[in-house]
Amino acid sequence: MAKGFTLWFTGLSASGKSTLAERVRDILLERGMNVEVLDGDVVRQNLSKGLGFSKEDRDINIRRIGFVCNLLTRNDVVAIGAAISPYKAIRDENRRLIGRFVVVYCKCDLDTLKERDPKGLYEKALQGEIKNFTGVSDPYEPPENAEVVVDTAKEDIEASVQKIIATLEQMSYIPATDGRGYSEEEEESIKQRLRDLGYI
Ligand code: ADX
Repeated sequence: MAKGFTLWFTGLSASGKSTLAERVRDILLERGMNVEVLDGDVVRQNLSKGLGFSKEDRDINIRRIGFVCNLLTRNDVVAIGAAISPYKAIRDENRRLIGRFVVVYCKCDLDTLKERDPKGLYEKALQGEIKNFTGVSDPYEPPENAEVVVDTAKEDIEASVQKIIATLEQMSYIPATDGRGYSEEEEESIKQRLRDLGYI
């Protein structure tokens, strides 16, 4: 039975994609799965280095991330994509390519994003210092077919994470836990694995 799938986070900058992607990754690793995160900010420093933020460049970026997610997915890895991915057509293209594809829409109102503004980019975009900034001066097309919608302005991180895990369990992408927890032996082998991977 296929074990791989792609979990695709979409949403505006600072909406919580990377934070949630990492939390979900850690939970899936603890459950013994092979997981990789492809984060827009990271991918743009290597695989997509040199690309800008025109529609063409964003489309190339999202197609590249989808391409790698597909390779991982078909090799039984859980691929987690976390990029704004503002255009519906390219997200849907990746869905068609990969098949086993679960979209998480990180919803968050603009006022909250402006308050968070961890990189000061909203401020700059509003001043006109950054052009074509998604949600301010560039389009974002919200998904209509997301399997999970989290509102990160209204719910805390744990609530969003639980929603995502519950959906993956309900859709049988991951086995449901029976809540019995792990034996000492299982716990040690999980810890060893996380150490080997350099996560702890
Ligand atoms: S995407 O549109 O191609 O999916 P991606 O997620 O890779 O975007 O990169 C978005 C990140 O780039 C943002 O979190 C932000 O830090 C930075 N960034 C710089 N300029 C822009 C811009 N004009 N629009 C959106 N994000 C930008």
